[in-house]
Amino acid sequence: MKVFITRQILESGLQVLRDANIEYTQFTEKRVLHSDELVQLCKGYDALLNASGNKMDAGFLEACRHLKVIALHSVGYDNADIAAATRLKIPIGNTPGVLSNATADTAFLLMLATSRNAFYMHNSIAKAEWKYFDPSANLGVELYGKTLGIFGLGSIGYEMAKRCSKVYGMKIIYHNRGKNEEAEQELGAVKLSFNELLHESDVLSVHCALTPETTGIFNMAAFKKMKPSAIFINTSRGAVHNEEDLLVALQQKIIWGSGLDVTNPEPMLPNNPLLSMPNVCVLPHIGSATFEARSAMSRLAAENIVAGLRGLPLPHWVNPF
Ligand code: DGY
Repeated sequence: MKVFITRQILESGLQVLRDANIEYTQFTEKRVLHSDELVQLCKGYDALLNASGNKMDAGFLEACRHLKVIALHSVGYDNADIAAATRLKIPIGNTPGVLSNATADTAFLLMLATSRNAFYMHNSIAKAEWKYFDPSANLGVELYGKTLGIFGLGSIGYEMAKRCSKVYGMKIIYHNRGKNEEAEQELGAVKLSFNELLHESDVLSVHCALTPETTGIFNMAAFKKMKPSAIFINTSRGAVHNEEDLLVALQQKIIWGSGLDVTNPEPMLPNNPLLSMPNVCVLPHIGSATFEARSAMSRLAAENIVAGLRGLPLPHWVNPF
């Protein structure tokens, strides 16, 4: 049995594959792997471990219907057509839970950095702009006692809410399809409508999955309902916000600042005006990029491959078989 891995992954998962006598090939070139190329490559393999975010639409899955399992090296599965995979009887697995701390830390980092214009200040020193002390310049905002709005209160959103509640005593409000009982009991979180969330949040942090309903939901109409002092954080998927609208909302001071770990498109182009704004902090989709999280993700993805190749239910499944 052989698995094709679209990027180099951490050793923990490779060990799981070796222990199960599964052969693997890792794509080691530092470039985007095109879809047609991936289809050709997959022809020689029984399973695919997708660690590059390559899109797996219905056409791709049809062409790769011989695959016994596809393991995603991510918790998000918006890059796969799950309905098509289910129809074609291809089990798909993901890596839930193990990256919640790392991603929540990234959201927290972006919130704090944005509130103090930190990335811009760092760059201004390199541009020789630090000349003297000015008590009335470089002012940020404090987070103590402010209101955190979470859009999509799952495991990552819960960790972000916990940090903000414990560290800054922030009031937690959220918008979700379902009720999050744990957050309501442990953190006093209050579920609100989307409009109420927009109106009441001092910091609004996005932790939802990318679906047709959430695509572009943070657009100009939404930003206009937010406070002019609000900070918008997105560590989920770039397509959840409309980036042109976000730029205008920041330029026109409709909202105060934004911290993004995800952009639309990715990679963000170096001449994007968001990168030179004082009130914006951008990271290159590193939410889960810690040794601990990536090592666990590698292991969970490999466990899914082993189970799928043995014809067993995946331990971390997206579509149940
Ligand atoms: C995830 O796991 O979904 C992260 O965003 C990495 O893509």
